[in-house]
Amino acid sequence: MSKTRVFSGTRATGRLHLGNYFGAVKGYIDLQNDPKYDCIYMAVDVHTITTPYDHRTLAQATKEIIMDYLAAGLDPEKAVVTIQSLVPEHVELAFLFASIVSVAKMQHLPTFKDKVKQHPDNVTMALLNYPTLMAADILAYKTELVPAGLDQEPHIEVTREIARRMNDLYGTDFPETKRFATPAQYVPSLTGEGKMSKSVEGSSINLTDDLATIKKRLASCPTDSGKGSTIPEKGGVANLLTFVEIFQGSERKKSYEADYFGNGLRYGDLKAELAEAIFDHLAPIREKRLELEKNPDYVNKVIKEGAEKARAIASATLAETKRKMGFYVQN
Ligand code: TYM
Repeated sequence: MSKTRVFSGTRATGRLHLGNYFGAVKGYIDLQNDPKYDCIYMAVDVHTITTPYDHRTLAQATKEIIMDYLAAGLDPEKAVVTIQSLVPEHVELAFLFASIVSVAKMQHLPTFKDKVKQHPDNVTMALLNYPTLMAADILAYKTELVPAGLDQEPHIEVTREIARRMNDLYGTDFPETKRFATPAQYVPSLTGEGKMSKSVEGSSINLTDDLATIKKRLASCPTDSGKGSTIPEKGGVANLLTFVEIFQGSERKKSYEADYFGNGLRYGDLKAELAEAIFDHLAPIREKRLELEKNPDYVNKVIKEGAEKARAIASATLAETKRKMGFYVQN
């Protein structure tokens, strides 16, 4: 029986944070460890240039993602781990897909509108094409399952639409890709508003942060008087309790809730205990990360071999697509 193809990626904007880890990378690891799946995971550096970026640090930021992936538990013996720009077939396929996607449709996507608000002076063709490139990432491997956070659902919907339209127009056989959700598919921000995100200052904790940084980040999470008859469903307090549940379990969360309804919840103590729990939970990842930093040759080898394996598949899909679209293709 043939295996189910899995693809996912993370933009190369520095280090992985808890949102990336719990919302996506844990799913990558679960699927890589199940022999039913054939997994490909990339640092998607071409997507990084769709918003303002620093060309002096892009290559390093890309490698940081790969090292965080490996430290978190991605295993090159079980999954392909590499960098998107080393597989140029993605960009070519994205251009072909762009020929069947309307500008109006792309302009209406909520993710596009958010980025326009964040960077009003940088509304580029590359930004408009973001979902088309993501569809190319996914469909270059005829991917059926994408482990990713809830925020990626609109993009995966676009991917399905592109697949359907390509199949109707040109007789390709792209599958209808589905998202694979982890239990924590939406990790909240430490600011009390929205999701944890690299682009929102003070909203995130990185996988390799030290204890002092984790404490500092939690300290700035907004709270309330710590007493009342209902616990807010949104905001800083709700988010802190979500983190308690993730790192310390539901029993600890319940005991804090009991304090809230009773004598009062002491947020200073909660934050100190939670910081230690997060730091301890991440210890194996930090240790592995240090080892990898001492071994750049190994990391480079993983990236190179991963790119070779990925290109073999993506170039076959590209040639097949071009042939079906009517291009002259040499065998
Ligand atoms: P990116 O780089 O923003 O995030 C990488 C992954 O982390 C997930 N994630 C979260 N999950 C839960 N809660 C959060 N607070 C949180 N923050 C981030 C994201 O959902 C994502 O799965 N467009 C993608 C990158 C991409 C891609 C792809 C993903 C390009 N091509 C093909 C899958 C398949 C993005 O910007 O992810």
